[in-house]
Amino acid sequence: MSENRESWSGQIMFVIAAAASAIGLGNLWRFPYLAAQYGGGAFILVYIALVATMGIALMTTEIAIGRMTRESQLTAYGRLDRRWRGCGILSTAIALVILPYYSVVGGWVLKYLLVYARAAFTGTEAVGGDSAGFFNAFIGASFAPFGYGALFIITAAFVVSLGVQDGIEKSNLVLMPLLLVIAFALAVYVLTLPGALAGVRYYLCPSASAFADPDGGFSWMRLMRMTMGAMGQMFYSGSLAMGIMITYGSYMRREDSVVRSVLRIEFFDTLIALLAGFMIVPVVYLFAVQEGMPVETAMNAGPGLMFITLPKVFATFGASGVWVGLLFFALVLFAALTSAISLYEAGVAAFVDSLRVSRGVSVAFVGTLSLLLSVFSALGFGVWGDIRICGQTFLDFFDFITNSVLMPVAAMLTCVFVGWRLGVGRIVGEVEREGRRLPMKAAYAFFIRYLAPLILLAILVSQVMAFLHDSFGIGSWHI
Ligand code: PHE
Repeated sequence: MSENRESWSGQIMFVIAAAASAIGLGNLWRFPYLAAQYGGGAFILVYIALVATMGIALMTTEIAIGRMTRESQLTAYGRLDRRWRGCGILSTAIALVILPYYSVVGGWVLKYLLVYARAAFTGTEAVGGDSAGFFNAFIGASFAPFGYGALFIITAAFVVSLGVQDGIEKSNLVLMPLLLVIAFALAVYVLTLPGALAGVRYYLCPSASAFADPDGGFSWMRLMRMTMGAMGQMFYSGSLAMGIMITYGSYMRREDSVVRSVLRIEFFDTLIALLAGFMIVPVVYLFAVQEGMPVETAMNAGPGLMFITLPKVFATFGASGVWVGLLFFALVLFAALTSAISLYEAGVAAFVDSLRVSRGVSVAFVGTLSLLLSVFSALGFGVWGDIRICGQTFLDFFDFITNSVLMPVAAMLTCVFVGWRLGVGRIVGEVEREGRRLPMKAAYAFFIRYLAPLILLAILVSQVMAFLHDSFGIGSWHI
């Protein structure tokens, strides 16, 4: 298997592919509102500190496991130690559960892109005055949300079916430069709007709400909540704990540098998250001030921000509004698509490696499974709108169970496995193979063996407590 395994055509291609996976809805949608809600600059600093330590350590570990075994996550753990096969099954399951609901949201983005394209080219209105009504009518429809999600999945399937070099690399070479250009262009446009500076200040200046109660007293609870939020975002944004970096690492050439690659991937991922904040927070801030509503309310966390508030904001830009909307949703679509491609590839590689089926068969299998599973999330706001799992819609439930429960568990198991079973030395050996030394080895070992498992356990407990509290009223405290 490892002899004729596909590989990236070079280190740059690997970095672009991994960055393309990392840069997604998490950067463009989740990061800005988390930053705005958790105290601006304070959150950003904590986030960057976490990426520079935990993020880099975990990404290095996953990529090294992939390159060492030359297998995808499903079989990589078992290859290193048979008793840890379960870890591979868990990561693969996470990827297969995320892909369908991620694609449903990708479908919403596709729909908005088409709406803005039509408006831009025919000179009509995009979403209309009632953007909330428009959004709810769309996601509540009985077929459209599924149809758009399906189109999104089929596009990803097409790219993945062409293989690592002909499919993933080539599509990235088109999408990623476009993504960078649009992100910079939109950020510059926003910064030149009159009054934008006040919004930038709101985004960047650390606010006391990160660690103080509304009455001004210091609150550990708030500080913890902000840190947990930043940590969860770091995982999600780095595409960690779902096997992707293991699969992508398994296509990495032995002569390329893991250390350098990881630094670059994390750099691009963080850059785009910060840029997204420059793009979104100031305009929502200006809009909130104009409308006389609290900025926190305008920066509301749910889908409302991207699909209801931003269209309202674009409408205030006059004639250029539809073009800004068109560019914005193109940017989001490219980011989401490249992330979905990486999820898809993690699933496909898993079946190719374990069942020895061809890439084509595996693509068809993962695609069919995703289409079927996507029905739940797609119809969960319409026909099946009354169904609640543990008090949540299907989409929210899948999101919760993966991000808040399974991903911390998978990451924790990976750290325990590497730290206590495989041995940190094996990872260091793999990383240093091509000659570049892994800096701060002792810190890395301490982190993987002790700190990361404890922190991950804390995240898991706090998320589950918060869930029990919010959904069932069980427990008197939550973070
Ligand atoms: N890292 C991606 C983002 O920031 C999220 C992602 C999740 C990517 C799952 C792939 C798989 O949006």
